[in-house]
Amino acid sequence: MDENIVTAIGTPNMALIKYWGKREEKLILPMNSSISMTFDETFNTKTSVLFTDRVPEDSFYINGVRQDLSDKDIMERFAIIDIMRRMAGTTSKAVVVSENSFPTAAGLASSASGIAAMVFAANSALKLGLGTKELSIIARQGSGSSCRSLSGGFVKWEMGSKDDGSDSCIRQIAGPGHWSDIIDIVAIVSKSKKKISSRAGMKQTVANSILYKARPAYAERACAEMEEAILKKDFERLGMLMMKDSNNLHAVMLDTYPPILYLNDVSKQIISSVSELNEVENKIVAAYTFDAGPNANIFTLEKYRSKVEELLSNIEGIESTRISKVGNGPRIIDEDASLIDPSTFKIKSG
Ligand code: PMV
Repeated sequence: MDENIVTAIGTPNMALIKYWGKREEKLILPMNSSISMTFDETFNTKTSVLFTDRVPEDSFYINGVRQDLSDKDIMERFAIIDIMRRMAGTTSKAVVVSENSFPTAAGLASSASGIAAMVFAANSALKLGLGTKELSIIARQGSGSSCRSLSGGFVKWEMGSKDDGSDSCIRQIAGPGHWSDIIDIVAIVSKSKKKISSRAGMKQTVANSILYKARPAYAERACAEMEEAILKKDFERLGMLMMKDSNNLHAVMLDTYPPILYLNDVSKQIISSVSELNEVENKIVAAYTFDAGPNANIFTLEKYRSKVEELLSNIEGIESTRISKVGNGPRIIDEDASLIDPSTFKIKSG
């Protein structure tokens, strides 16, 4: 086994039409297709991967902290290393070191950028030579939404219909250069870890929300419309579709028993303020969307940016904002940037 350390950078993606619910738990097959925009490197995860026979066990570090590989959540994510090891026909141990440039597990898709970077780096470290579609199928099995981060630009995760999941993979709708004046203003409202994981939350929603029954078919139609809006760079249509989808997502969450509440008062204030702005402007100039957390993603166009920034600056409780444009997807970076010490096979100190 070649013991080369490979480091990759991955970025999150923000879903415009969301994935929430699995039809199959083990392979992570979704109830509906979803569409996202991949972020630029404003938010990113750097991940170094090494396969070696010279350490006794696997190790996995996130932001300097060694993860417990017997923890269910971590185990499910790390399972993709096993999938890739099997494909490469090796039993070498893995050292994986990951660092986020933004808060972990606060609804900012840290798992997506982390898994995308891990899968991308492992593909190279194990010399598997897999393409984007194949890598998205592997990433999906670690965390569903992460599969969309394997490509840049605007990406659709096709739900697929096969039982083995071989057609539940991504397809790029438009490349990173397609829509250069669209931006996502990420408003950080809280950096605390979410109370209920998306994995657990969506399972409960599928199991007992009455309103959820209408969601998969509606989301499938919304994906078709969203794809058209992206291709035509029709911001008003995109904005309307994404806000409606976010509203629907949080409605089915609330309709779950026990209820799942990710939005807080600041999130709700953002929803009201954006809606008022659009009413005053008599057109959609800004559009919000929320994942499994209170932080807001407000999409707008460069020409409306100052207006939207001013609006947000008047909302109390927004801790900070960061802007992302459309990103290129994962990439391998220089060996010098590695997070693994090549002499100890442990996390680099300092
Ligand atoms: O892939 P997970 O288990 O982190 O689920 C993520 C679900 C949402 O972020 C809420 C929606 C989405 O499509 O990204």
